[in-house]
Amino acid sequence: MKRIITGIKPTGTPHVGNYLGAIKPALKLAAEEEHQSMYFIADLHALNSIHNRSKLKSLTYEVAAAWLALGLDPERSLFYRQSDIKELPELHWILSSVTGKGLMNRAHAYKAQVEQNNREGRDRDDGVNMGLFNYPILMAADILLFNGSEVPVGKDNRQHLEMAKDIGESFNRLYGSTFDLPTPVFAEGSEIIPGLDGRKMSKSYGNTIPLFTEEKSLHKLVKRIVTDSLPPEAPKDREGSPLFTLFREFATPIETEQMAHAFQKGIGYGEIKEELFLVMNRVIAGPRVKYRHLLENTDEIDKCLKDGGSKVRKEAAEHMDRIRERVGL
Ligand code: ADP
Ligand code: TRP
Repeated sequence: MKRIITGIKPTGTPHVGNYLGAIKPALKLAAEEEHQSMYFIADLHALNSIHNRSKLKSLTYEVAAAWLALGLDPERSLFYRQSDIKELPELHWILSSVTGKGLMNRAHAYKAQVEQNNREGRDRDDGVNMGLFNYPILMAADILLFNGSEVPVGKDNRQHLEMAKDIGESFNRLYGSTFDLPTPVFAEGSEIIPGLDGRKMSKSYGNTIPLFTEEKSLHKLVKRIVTDSLPPEAPKDREGSPLFTLFREFATPIETEQMAHAFQKGIGYGEIKEELFLVMNRVIAGPRVKYRHLLENTDEIDKCLKDGGSKVRKEAAEHMDRIRERVGL
């Protein structure tokens, strides 16, 4: 059985881009019979950017509640908190002892920060903590501890995956074959979901539609999506239209075909937005209720993550014992 593993950073309130770009495809994969999936909340990874206790706690709940509300089945998938697997920081340390600093110098999140510092005339390492610098090593530990996994990630994580492979290989060369090396899985043709201003929807741009915002506010936000100023009767281009891209993601194929036709014939933006709101709300309404319920009953989330953690910890401990032995501890 193929094992799929991926981490979800609790660094922002889940938005429509996260849902369509990451959550929906991952849940589809998890539902396939021949897979065993491990999805974890990467709270240790989030620590390098979130230095506020209650913020980290509430984002962890929001993100976990979103996955559960959207259909993650904790009976089928292993769903846990990274920080509950105490072996991970231990493996991180062992792996960092076989990882060249030069490799980490090339990691893109770190490099981007250094380049920005250079451009803006600051010290090259300004604002860089060791959590950010070591990020790819912890990610390698997440994957290697559970051996031979397929790892679905966005293209932005391609380099991290290559590094996890390199790190696993270095270890295997030094100590004998210990880790299976991961295979990255990139969602094919995955769309960049546009935000309110037409750029990529991202919390960094402040242009998101929070996935579980109340119905009224969803309606308001949809009305704010930018459009050009063509009159209703003018034929409209679907290519690059944020409204059409979003509509297609939430509507049925028949509805999408009808909308494509309406674009060609001419339809007012106000009307498109009403239709878009309806199809979005149809998908989100049920999960929204579940999400709210979970956030009001966070003990249910805790229980679920704790159970998931205890299921994987046994395997983690066994593998960690072998690793300790391999290195002579
Ligand atoms: P943000 O850009 O808001 O900070 P993250 O970087 O935390 O979002 O992304 C979490 C996951 O959601 C990643 O797998 C990322 O590829 C996906 N994702 C985020 N924004 C989009 C988007 N606009 N379109 C498609 N996928 C997205
Ligand atoms: N780096 C991933 C992200 O940017 C999160 C992550 C942490 C991860 N550990 C992982 C993904 C292990 C896949 C496998 O969202």
